[in-house]
Amino acid sequence: MEFFGFLVLCLCYMLVFIRVEVAALRNHAALSEVSQPYRTAFHFQPSKNWMNDPNGPMYYKGVYHIFYQYNPYGALWGNISWGHAISYDLINWVNLDIALIPNEPYDINGCFSGSATIFPNGEPAILYTGADTNKHQVQNLAFPKNVSDPLLTEWVKSSLNPILSPPEGIDAMSYRDPSTAWMGQDGQWRVVIGSELDHHGLAILYKSKDFRHWIRTSSPLHSSNKTIMWECPDFYPVSTNGKNGLDTSAIQKNIKHVLKVSFKTHDYYILGKYDPKSDKYDVDIDFMDSRGSLQYDYGRFYASKSFYDGHKKRRVLWSWINEGDSESDDNKKGWSGLQSIPRSIWLSENGDQLVQWPVKELKKLRKRKVHYKNKELKGGSLFQISGITASQADVEITFSLSNLNEAEVLTSDVIDPQILCTQKNASVSGSQGPFGLLVLASKDLTEHTAVFFRVFRSANSFRVLMCSDQKRSSLRQEVNKTIYGAFLVLDPRHEKISLRTLIDHSIVESFGGDGLACITARVYPKLAIEEQAQLYVFNNGSQSLIISSLSAWSMKKAQIVSIGKRRKHIK
Ligand SMILES: *[C@@H]1O[C@H](CO)[C@@H](O)[C@H](O)[C@H]1NC(C)=O
Ligand SMILES: *[C@@H]1O[C@H](CO)[C@@H](O)[C@H](O)[C@H]1NC(C)=O
Ligand SMILES: *[C@@H]1O[C@H](CO)[C@@H](O)[C@H](O)[C@H]1NC(C)=O
Ligand SMILES: *[C@@H]1O[C@H](CO)[C@@H](O)[C@H](O)[C@H]1NC(C)=O
Ligand SMILES: *[C@@H]1O[C@H](CO)[C@@H](O)[C@H](O)[C@H]1NC(C)=O
Ligand SMILES: *[C@@H]1O[C@H](CO)[C@@H](O)[C@H](O)[C@H]1NC(C)=O
Repeated sequence: MEFFGFLVLCLCYMLVFIRVEVAALRNHAALSEVSQPYRTAFHFQPSKNWMNDPNGPMYYKGVYHIFYQYNPYGALWGNISWGHAISYDLINWVNLDIALIPNEPYDINGCFSGSATIFPNGEPAILYTGADTNKHQVQNLAFPKNVSDPLLTEWVKSSLNPILSPPEGIDAMSYRDPSTAWMGQDGQWRVVIGSELDHHGLAILYKSKDFRHWIRTSSPLHSSNKTIMWECPDFYPVSTNGKNGLDTSAIQKNIKHVLKVSFKTHDYYILGKYDPKSDKYDVDIDFMDSRGSLQYDYGRFYASKSFYDGHKKRRVLWSWINEGDSESDDNKKGWSGLQSIPRSIWLSENGDQLVQWPVKELKKLRKRKVHYKNKELKGGSLFQISGITASQADVEITFSLSNLNEAEVLTSDVIDPQILCTQKNASVSGSQGPFGLLVLASKDLTEHTAVFFRVFRSANSFRVLMCSDQKRSSLRQEVNKTIYGAFLVLDPRHEKISLRTLIDHSIVESFGGDGLACITARVYPKLAIEEQAQLYVFNNGSQSLIISSLSAWSMKKAQIVSIGKRRKHIK
């Protein structure tokens, strides 16, 4: 029986890959009608059309699944369905049929975001938001048609739908995005739903014995009168010792709980102690605290969702990266939106923040490499990293500084890093910085995106600023060139300053201080495309510094292919 099952599986995959070839050719033909300099090579994208939030990521029977908000009919938001893709390594993907389409009264105006929960018996379920006939938001349940199928190709919506409708006092247009559920000490399921009350953010908490009938608890899991409506809440434990991830229902010593919510184009998170008996959540530092707000990423990164990968004992984070060009550009390209590189996420050693790093499988795509060690970079100089494909690359660099006492003085303690990066952009020279990378640069440097650092002195300590400056990323006037910034909580007297940047045609995804701060940018160069793109290290501070090490790799294209065997129609 075992062997027979294996044989059938093999035959199935052979069939899949024959289809894949054909579909890949077809997609190539469809997109090659327009030139596609902004199409990415190793970030996940469907072959065309609109994509936004990642939904219901999970690992099931040896297969990674990602679902996503998808418009099957166009490059702009609309007709929202759940696209579905599978992978064996989180890097190469096969796009399957659409998993959920809006075709029932309770989701006819859209199958909005939601999450997957894996039951103790190993079987998954999806909770998602539907926009009903009145465009009211309700919560729905769906199960796999065949739990023996590791690809989970077909999903069946529950006959009990909608299982939750907006409670009294809650606006029916502000009630969405159920989280992955977790089980409390009493054996009952919990789930949170993003909402608002008096225009303030709210995570409504529900409990259930059977996952089908849910009761709202007397108080929400958390709320804030300093924010607007919360979207896409994610609530999960992290270990206080080590990088291993934990199952969403894990109850044990030495953990903290993360609450992430999405608002105002960013994903903010807080840390705290959750009591699985009383459901009380005691936060360390709340949202919008005067001491600063923690974000997963300080650039373009929204509506993220994490899942526990039991196979590799890690928590993996996905996020939607939107476009910074116009709707007419998107219609011309035929697509809009991509997903971040999946990131491992864990608690920092001091327990004050999360740390993120691209999943290690990404290294499989690295090919041609250049490497330098202990290279001096004088103030006001730059040098080119040649020998790799600069439009499709992975770069890791570590800087070591001396003469820190020469650093500029930072007068105020509470300064918005984004404002600081905007005032002191890459072309403003300083003392310790700006230094970093110029990516997607044209030969004459008229176009470039600068990912860089500056070190400031304040009283008895130092502050390390990380910036991503898109101001000169494109000769095109009309694209968004917002500058992003973050502080790196590290002490440059004792630690080197590292940067890893993933460059993929129109995306620049950067990890500073070994993942202490992340900044993702979208850029649309006119000159610095394909083979024309160049890569440099620069130092426009007055102090010289040492590049302790620099490794840069050309990246292979990931295999992302589509097999659409059933064309479903929206009623
Ligand atoms: C939604 O789908 C219909 C076809 O069913 C199409 O005519 C319409 O343009 C689509 N809307 C958007 C915004 O893509
Ligand atoms: C369920 O999936 C398994 C594994 O792919 C397959 O062998 C079986 O035929 C499927 N059952 C049905 C009813 O489709
Ligand atoms: C806002 O919330 C905080 C903490 O929950 C509370 O102490 C404060 O009174 C609230 N402020 C207003 C204006 O409601
Ligand atoms: C950089 O900042 C300086 C000073 O704030 C400003 O004068 C200059 O226009 C900025 N340069 C760019 C390219 O934005
Ligand atoms: C570095 O400084 C030089 C000289 O002031 C300037 O021409 C150049 O644009 C600066 N580099 C960046 C990345 O702004
Ligand atoms: C550019 O994008 C950012 C989000 O990254 C947004 O906050 C800002 O409003 C946009 N700017 C313009 C001019 O559209």
